Amino acid sequence: MPLVTFNDILPQARAEKRAVAAFNVANLETVLSVFKAAEALKAPVIIQVYQRLFKDERAGLIAAMVTRLASESDIPVALHLDHGESLEQLRAAIAIGYTSVMIDGSKLSFAENIALSAEAARIAHDAGVTLEAEIGHVPFGDGAIELSTAAEAEAFVAKTGVDALAISIGTVHGFYKKAPELDIGRAREIGAKVGIPLVLHGGTGVPDDQLRLAISSGVAKINIATELQSLFLKRIASELAACGDTFKPVDLCFKPVETDVQAYVRAKIRSLS
Ligand code: 13P
Repeated sequence: MPLVTFNDILPQARAEKRAVAAFNVANLETVLSVFKAAEALKAPVIIQVYQRLFKDERAGLIAAMVTRLASESDIPVALHLDHGESLEQLRAAIAIGYTSVMIDGSKLSFAENIALSAEAARIAHDAGVTLEAEIGHVPFGDGAIELSTAAEAEAFVAKTGVDALAISIGTVHGFYKKAPELDIGRAREIGAKVGIPLVLHGGTGVPDDQLRLAISSGVAKINIATELQSLFLKRIASELAACGDTFKPVDLCFKPVETDVQAYVRAKIRSLS
């Protein structure tokens, strides 16, 4: 089927208290691993691409691959720009076939974030695609967490018309030194005030029981990048080590890596649905 937007999959997921997993891909092998795992489970999936990959031809080539794979399949697949950094980047993503985009105004003031996200929502909706925005701030690595509040979430959604809202309830992007404790009470308050699907960034390393509590509070999209990409790289390293000085063609070297990444993705999708 053609690629879908967030509105085709996330409101239903929220209503059914499950989440759609959103995996950050970066090349043919990560795309194939995520897609085949979702297809094996007949599950909807979000394939997302970090904004850095829009600086050269990679984001467009990934779009061509994902569009082709989805067209030959029955599972709903949304293709998403993750952490879009400007309105120009959103327009460029939409032009090359992305069916959903994120504008990340989380480092701006609240008023500036509202103005930018409202304009981004207009651009996305005029093009028939969906928009995700973020309030509070989910940092990368050791940066400072700024928690979201229910009052801000309610005002933000009313003033911007975004389709999905990323909230900050204690996660960070990347590995944790010790497992995080999410502020589930805060998630519940936000979910009670805001009816649209909520998004959790920083899914790596969050224990499944906490993810389930976040889902029961209204989170319908969970982002996973570091865990998947780290597994991919570690498996390549072990394949290369096993080859020693013996040459192995690239595709054959990647095959067992893809098999293991697929198993990881299947397990993650099952645990969120
Ligand atoms: P992790 O890298 O912590 O899984 O976070 C992914 C993410 O939120 C992408 O936007």
